[in-house]
Amino acid sequence: MRFVVYGAGAVGGVLGGRLALSKNDVLLICREPHARAINENNGLKMKSARGEYSATLRAASDLAAGEVDDDTCILFTPKSHDTKLCVEKLSKLAPAGVSLVSFQNGVSNEEIISEKFTNVHGGVCRMTCSALQPGQVSFRRMGRLVIGKYPKGSHSFPKKLAPILESAGFEVSVSNSIMCDKWLKLVVNLQSGFNAIVDSRDHDSVEFMDLKVGVLEEAKKVLKSEKMRAKSCDDRDLSVDDVIKELKKPKAPRSPSAVRVNNSTWQNLYLKRKEVENGYFHGPIIEIAKKHKIPVPFNEVALELVTECCKSKLGPGVFRAGEVLEKINLRGKDR
Ligand SMILES: NC(=O)c1ccc[n+]([C@@H]2O[C@H](COP(=O)([O-])OP(=O)(O)OC[C@H]3O[C@@H](n4cnc5c(N)ncnc54)[C@H](OP(=O)(O)O)[C@@H]3O)[C@@H](O)[C@H]2O)c1
Repeated sequence: MRFVVYGAGAVGGVLGGRLALSKNDVLLICREPHARAINENNGLKMKSARGEYSATLRAASDLAAGEVDDDTCILFTPKSHDTKLCVEKLSKLAPAGVSLVSFQNGVSNEEIISEKFTNVHGGVCRMTCSALQPGQVSFRRMGRLVIGKYPKGSHSFPKKLAPILESAGFEVSVSNSIMCDKWLKLVVNLQSGFNAIVDSRDHDSVEFMDLKVGVLEEAKKVLKSEKMRAKSCDDRDLSVDDVIKELKKPKAPRSPSAVRVNNSTWQNLYLKRKEVENGYFHGPIIEIAKKHKIPVPFNEVALELVTECCKSKLGPGVFRAGEVLEKINLRGKDR
């Protein structure tokens, strides 16, 4: 199997880099400065807490005609707001029946991809990765991947792909209900806004814990009202209740990590990108909440503040946890 990683930044770089290290043929489709740096350095530099190394692979800013054949697997990894445009471009150069796996967060990408492609699979990537400089990616530690046929069911392709990803060092599960796994990841991801906008000096505070628990408790109510399942296919990932329990446990002081890797929202704010993806996480929760008249001030305020940080180019870590909690309490009283 050959791999084309389309929209290769942080996640795509780590997936592609690890696959290349385990002797797979990998082509990254990424932005021009990233592609140039990779080709000039004869590989993608990868940094993790375990050390630094280089993965030999090809990189280009666009896919050439004839590059994708029947034996190609496309790993689709742009941000959700780029999905439509990437699918349009990709569909002109890849056959509609190509095997494609979306490792994006959110629950709307696979539906958009399915408008042009017929062999679509969903993927959950449980690891924190970043790409802050051209030619380089960082990740904390090797993570876990869940893959499965979209929208659901058993299929031979994820079963064929899983051992290849395992050989590249990932822990892999195959799901017959991948959207339940994706909803679980979406709910867990609701914390990412607060992780990114709140000053890291407050990250061990009670107020910070209250913010993260608040956003998750709201999501639980909302999903229950719609009878939606946010669940791990094999119970290997913590349930939303488990995550809440973990958040409430007293924490040991953080050990200084050799490699500092922040989440994707933090990365977008830090790089002063013009868009953030968080509307694709809080949006579906806020929409269902409206339908059932469930107040969701934690989700609303999280999305508003992340959007403000992005639009005004404030960068990450600009709010204190207490200040954010106060805004949420005021929102509650206004109703
Ligand atoms: N980072 C994480 O830890 C993590 C973990 C799990 C899941 N995820 C999910 O994985 C997805 C990707 O996240 P990420 O953090 O890897 O984002 P990212 O670093 O921004 O990577 C996406 C890359 O695709 C590029 N791109 C967009 N359109 C393109 C096109 N037409 N041609 C070539 N390149 C294009 C983007 O360039 P521009 O920025 O210039 O547009 C960007 O470099 C998101 O859905 C995210 O939520 C992330």
